[in-house]
Amino acid sequence: MRIVMVGSGYVGLVSGACFADFGHEVVCVDKAEDKIEALKNGVIPIFEPGLDQLVENNVEAGRLSFTTELAGPVSEADVVFIAVGTPSRRGDGHADLGYVHAAAAEIAAAVKGFTVVVTKSTVPVGTGDEVERIIRETNPGADVAVVSNPEFLREGAAIEDFKRPDRIVVGLSDERARAVMTEVYRPLYLNQSPLLFTSRRTSELIKYAANAFLAMKITFINEVADLCEKVGADVQDVSRGIGLDGRIGSKFLHAGPGYGGSCFPKDTLALAKTAQDYDSPVRLIETTIAINDNRKRAMGRKVIAAAGGDVRGKKIAVFGLTFKPNTDDMRDSPSIAIVQALKDSGAIVSGYDPEGMENARQMMEIDFATSPYKAAEGADVAVLVTEWNAFRALDLNRLKSVMNSPVLVDLRNVYRAAEVEAHGFAYHGVGKAV
Ligand code: UGA
Repeated sequence: MRIVMVGSGYVGLVSGACFADFGHEVVCVDKAEDKIEALKNGVIPIFEPGLDQLVENNVEAGRLSFTTELAGPVSEADVVFIAVGTPSRRGDGHADLGYVHAAAAEIAAAVKGFTVVVTKSTVPVGTGDEVERIIRETNPGADVAVVSNPEFLREGAAIEDFKRPDRIVVGLSDERARAVMTEVYRPLYLNQSPLLFTSRRTSELIKYAANAFLAMKITFINEVADLCEKVGADVQDVSRGIGLDGRIGSKFLHAGPGYGGSCFPKDTLALAKTAQDYDSPVRLIETTIAINDNRKRAMGRKVIAAAGGDVRGKKIAVFGLTFKPNTDDMRDSPSIAIVQALKDSGAIVSGYDPEGMENARQMMEIDFATSPYKAAEGADVAVLVTEWNAFRALDLNRLKSVMNSPVLVDLRNVYRAAEVEAHGFAYHGVGKAV
């Protein structure tokens, strides 16, 4: 299959490289000349484990290429994926579909012969209809089928998620498009990954419903964690105890500082807005959003309490700044609100992150250190915000020796209280009896 990926961001680049690895011929298109130039030189603009090797292998094999020119590759393509960004629209939280609509018009002007146009970007229900309308209006003669095929990959585990998905969701009504999409995903289909065909609108909603459910599941366990602290219970055992029930499942039940990233915050908001527009509000999700927003600053207050209630002039060391490990992504990271709350209360904040410091510099003014131990020098409290592997086996003796007072706030429950306390620390986890 000849595939064109319009948009070489996270989803576009990972999907493009993986499709090439399946044996398809893939051209990744992006308007950003510097990004395409870098990719041509083998420089990957994002941090994603394994992606550089995958891109290199497939470029070398002649199956993957990069360009800023959309028309040529689209005219020869069997399938064109739209994988451009859909940021939250300023002010109202709706997804901004400007890039999707612009891509649809450009594709329409360039297609030749039967072409399947697939939206992979996360788009609100009805976007496929709009994409189809734009294509028909721009090029009334175009022989095009518009399909929805949302992506469920996670940053940091993107390649594994793409190649071994729980399911592939495809929304369409055109039988020719169904045959093409089956061919595109044949390697996964042969691997027994369920391929769910449904209507376009249903497929679009599945993506939002999945992300909203997961965000709600995390928020549920975060609230239970708060309750655990009050009643003297342990949230990790509660998670295990409920997660072993197959109807609930153990994944996404880790209590923490609140969810962040480029997807859950944006997608929950967009779903809530769509639901309000259709006069069918999703109150559970509206509440989830509100609880999660409050939680991030509340974690700042938790740190202040651990420091004795007053952090004026005290030094706080933050371990991990990205919204989760194995990414350099800082978007909506809990660290942003936590750092702000600490600074607002007069603390001096230092931080260390294995991959995220370059992006973090654009978002916060703190002392950036070269290691967790450097960050902790003279600190009154150390806060573990992101559970990078590098923080899982800290040398607690060394940490204690550089700190002003040995207090560890572990917002990801990486450590066991007894183990840390045995090293002379005061330990504060999440959802643990205090
Ligand atoms: C999420 C979904 O998991 C993907 O399936 C989806 O494709 C993607 O959004 C998207 O729509 O593009 P991602 O944002 O990369 O993926 O990250 P997750 O691993 O889902 O984590 C999101 C946030 O939830 C992080 O801040 C993480 O720390 C937090 N989280 C996750 C918890 O606090 N507890 C958990 O148990 C799980």
